[in-house]
Amino acid sequence: MANSEPRRKDGTMIRATDLSLNEQISLLSGSDVWHTRDLPDHAVPAVMLSDGPHGLRKQDQAGDHLGVSGSNPATCFPTAVTLASSWDEELIAEVGRAVGNEARAEGVGVVLGPGLNIKRHPNCGRNFEYLSEDPLLSGRLAAAMVNGIQQTGVGACLKHFAVNNQEAHRLVVDVVVDDRTLHEIYLAGFEHAVRAARPWTVMAAYNSLNGTYCCDNHDLLTAILRDRWGFDGLVMSDWGATNDRVVGVHAGMDLEMPGSGGISDGDVAAAVASGELPRSDVATSAQRVLDLTQQAPGEQGSAADTVAHHLLCRRAAAESTVLLRNDGILPLDPDISIAVIGAFARAPRFQGFGSSLVNPTSVDSAWDAIRTRAATASYAPGYDPVTSARDDLLIREAVRTARRADVVVLLAGLPGVYESEGFDRSDMALPEQHNALITKVCAANPRTIVALSNGSPVAMPWVDAPAAIVESYLGGQASGSALADVLFGDVDPGGRLAETFPIDQTDVASDPYFPGEPHQVEYRENLLVGYRHFTTNDVPALFPFGYGLSYATFEWGPATADRTELAPGGNVTVSVPITNSGPRPGSDVVQLYVRDITGAVARPLRELRGFAKVHLAPGATQTVTISLDDRAFSYFDADSQRWRVPSGEFVLELAASSVDIRSTITVTVTGQVPGGDCGPVTVARSDQEFAELLGRPVPLPRPVRPFSRLTTVGELQESRVGRVLRMGLHRYTRGQFEQMAAGDSTMVTMLGRALDEMPLRGVALFAGGVIPWSALDALVDVLNGRPLAAGSRSAAAVVRGVSQRLFHR
Ligand code: BGC
Repeated sequence: MANSEPRRKDGTMIRATDLSLNEQISLLSGSDVWHTRDLPDHAVPAVMLSDGPHGLRKQDQAGDHLGVSGSNPATCFPTAVTLASSWDEELIAEVGRAVGNEARAEGVGVVLGPGLNIKRHPNCGRNFEYLSEDPLLSGRLAAAMVNGIQQTGVGACLKHFAVNNQEAHRLVVDVVVDDRTLHEIYLAGFEHAVRAARPWTVMAAYNSLNGTYCCDNHDLLTAILRDRWGFDGLVMSDWGATNDRVVGVHAGMDLEMPGSGGISDGDVAAAVASGELPRSDVATSAQRVLDLTQQAPGEQGSAADTVAHHLLCRRAAAESTVLLRNDGILPLDPDISIAVIGAFARAPRFQGFGSSLVNPTSVDSAWDAIRTRAATASYAPGYDPVTSARDDLLIREAVRTARRADVVVLLAGLPGVYESEGFDRSDMALPEQHNALITKVCAANPRTIVALSNGSPVAMPWVDAPAAIVESYLGGQASGSALADVLFGDVDPGGRLAETFPIDQTDVASDPYFPGEPHQVEYRENLLVGYRHFTTNDVPALFPFGYGLSYATFEWGPATADRTELAPGGNVTVSVPITNSGPRPGSDVVQLYVRDITGAVARPLRELRGFAKVHLAPGATQTVTISLDDRAFSYFDADSQRWRVPSGEFVLELAASSVDIRSTITVTVTGQVPGGDCGPVTVARSDQEFAELLGRPVPLPRPVRPFSRLTTVGELQESRVGRVLRMGLHRYTRGQFEQMAAGDSTMVTMLGRALDEMPLRGVALFAGGVIPWSALDALVDVLNGRPLAAGSRSAAAVVRGVSQRLFHR
């Protein structure tokens, strides 16, 4: 990471070995929610870390990791799901630079993003914060974001490493996944971003992976991340994710966040004293913290241009918009009367809840943006933007308004309470009120355009009714004007889906195994994530991965390759001329999928191995070239822990989506593994198949009893004493939550769920030293029906500590 020697802010050099053991240990935990510890005696400064990922959430006052307390105003850029739909690395790097500049201006040293966990299932509550279901796309776009942020002199943080693909039980769940799937699907994006963009930091995830918590996982954090991929930065924990600090330090988890008020320092000191933990492990991690303080900017940067950033936000949202359907109604002629229906037009839904919540510098509404352009405009809310409760009166009013207009723009989607960090959706449905509104309004006026605001795919039982469907996702603070820009044709909707829209969630291969048991989730779908399943098993999608319409018309010429025989380690470059044959400027995305027909190993039908975005003026032609190296043909061989290339034929498919193949070229590759007769990948449905895939017996989920430090607050429900404790906690915090959330019901729901999800060890860590391990362990004894007296004292300590510190530091 640091190319130069670490220096104090006065310019003199400092190494971990210049510090006492206690000083070194103190660097391994934060000082509070957002800062690394400073060492004033050595002139070592603190570094401020702030969320991320689509805008800055810098908290000057009370700090929290769930977006509860206020933060300084910052530009709220489009969320990851939106930006990813642009497939535009330059655009994403530009957004990264803007976020970095705002961080610099606020004196923040590291921005906690991007998040690039794979969208394993459409119902993951945090999908809006992630990029794609495909590792190549996720990795390349994350690398672009890291480059953009780091060009401003601020560090980025790849998160959440790794396999954090659900919110349910995220703090305690063990992900059981086979090694090949792990590397090919869940790690490949991180690997690319680490190698290509050299992020300063990586965040270890909450969950456990194949039996070991990510924060304790030497394989993940050292053998793979550092030794294999060459990562030379710092690993920090997700907030409150530390499991066993001593094991964690040895595993390469350098920095615990937030600080735990000395609890972990004591554990580490004792382990060094007893010889359990080598002192050199402490020095290594302390050195990485020192390196970070050296690398982080010393002074605050100049004020960021938030007006320019708002405009960037608007452009990025428009260029990321995915046009799903258009019978020719779009772009709109402004010389008409437009009925704008849907409360989101005035109360826009433009970001998700949780730690990524940005306090926007300003917010554009679609209603303002449309009415200032249209000849005549009328409005009806159609639903309550927060509850979306069933209300026929609102629907009747909307239908009347729709009938009187030439065209209807109907904004619908998911209210915030439906998707958030901290919990998953239970299904893909829009609120009933939204579905009824769309159906009735389309019947009243078939010239209806449905514009959606949502962070993840939704079911569309009415899909054929509207004249057009525009997927805006969660487009950030300028999403209202961006929508008008697209509707009136000022900007071509440049988005292509970075995820599959299933017709029904049961069409998704992981559906029977999502979110699994509270303590165990089994990735039995193997490599069949997203389009890999839909294309391999010929399952029709509502809208496939890679799909999106444009206002321009593109003609693809014949594809050529610079060679069709590849020697070991060889590259191939594929070219295809693209012409904009229509009267409007626009952009297209050339996707290059590879089909392995060697039969050496079981494979999905096709896998994305390259892409390029092209912007073309009317009549212009550009030859797009995409190069593939041997990684594009290789698979991860779990036995040798190596990427290996099969010998034989591969088909290169140039495509406009995962099901729209425009031309193919067959190449013959000489690799290390002979061809064979393996068929496509299959789901490991039976225990025996899954055990074969894993190469070991399927583990049994950790039982709720006996209770332990890993027992969650929700699981306290299982014992009489625990029930009382849990009820007390909820009762106490409810009032606090309501006060903090200032009447925001989504926030109250999220906090209540987050409390239930928290393991007792997390409660102790968050309580910042108020609850020592001894008190917690005594409480666990009580829960297990052992020593009562000590236990009840501890319970009191827990309640006291939690109420004081848990969500309000
Ligand atoms: C989230 C992280 C976030 C951290 C700090 C955690 O709850 O998982 O993504 O960076 O909080 O707010």
